[in-house]
Amino acid sequence: MALDLSGQEPRAPKAAVARLQQSVVAADRDGVDAWLALGSRIFSDGSQRPGQLKEMPSSAGDLLDPAQSHGDALVQVTAPNERAVREAAERVVKQAVGWRVRWQVDGFRAENRVEAGKGLARNPFHFTEGFGNPGTDREMTDRAVVRSGQGEPDWAVGGSYQVVRIVRFATELWDKDSVRGQERIIGRRRDGRWLDGTPTDEQPSFAADPNGKATPLDSHVRLAAPDRRNLPPLVRRSYSYDRGNGDSGLIFSCFQRDLAKGFEAVQKRLAGEAMAKYMLTTGGGYFFVPPPGDTWIDALFRS
Ligand code: HEM
Repeated sequence: MALDLSGQEPRAPKAAVARLQQSVVAADRDGVDAWLALGSRIFSDGSQRPGQLKEMPSSAGDLLDPAQSHGDALVQVTAPNERAVREAAERVVKQAVGWRVRWQVDGFRAENRVEAGKGLARNPFHFTEGFGNPGTDREMTDRAVVRSGQGEPDWAVGGSYQVVRIVRFATELWDKDSVRGQERIIGRRRDGRWLDGTPTDEQPSFAADPNGKATPLDSHVRLAAPDRRNLPPLVRRSYSYDRGNGDSGLIFSCFQRDLAKGFEAVQKRLAGEAMAKYMLTTGGGYFFVPPPGDTWIDALFRS
């Protein structure tokens, strides 16, 4: 859920941020994972803002609904069961005096599991997602976590940029296509195997298929990650959503230490992908997950 500061004095948010952080830390236990991320407007002191943090721009084809986009903060709550998530989220909202919920969306991960160190789940289009993510903590940190010397404010080292996109999917239209057709749009088989026969956990040679005979040039994975030796520096962790009345799709979410090299570079390459006609992005935002602990609050809002 995204929250906005509701106080009279939005230029002095230190106490409100500290309260929200406390309520999130209190929820982060007993099998519940909860974390806070900050939106760009919280940084009244521009010098402390993470260098690349801004309001998420609209990409070609997006129809961003302001009531489902952006926010001063994002609180993400996850747990193995729905009730635990709901109760923890309610506690956060109750304790977070000075904040009001701007938007929220419930997600789930079908067939959620870990294989070879990778978190996998089946998305609403019947494809397994997660294979392109790193399989080790070290690689994960390398892609997702801000380092010193990157030009970010000191307090932000150890944090991560989080991008959320609520992508409505035309499942009825999608389901009319053959499985083979769907696989050519994604660029992998439903179970993750590559279209040229390369096993799931090995790298295909796109160079050996310059005209896209095996893996079409406008397929999702081929555009997202054309260079198989330098994979995009981001870690994806998405959830399915279903709000009824055909409003279902993916809560796409990813983490990166560099927004321009991570999400933004891939998003640019995906313009014109074959999957575009099945998708409508209606919400989401850019946020920054602060490093663990709470010393960042003092560093960030020096009074
Ligand atoms: C509704 C939207 C989307 C769907 C259904 C979708 C689906 C998939 C699937 C099935 C895969 C292959 C399995 C895997 O590696 O996880 C994949 C890979 C990937 N996707 Fe997406 N995706 C979506 C949106 C996005 C967006 C918005 C981005 C980033 C801007 C993105 C970036 C990537 C990347 C980087 C890979 C891994 C490529 C690789 O290393 O092989 N995806 N996606």
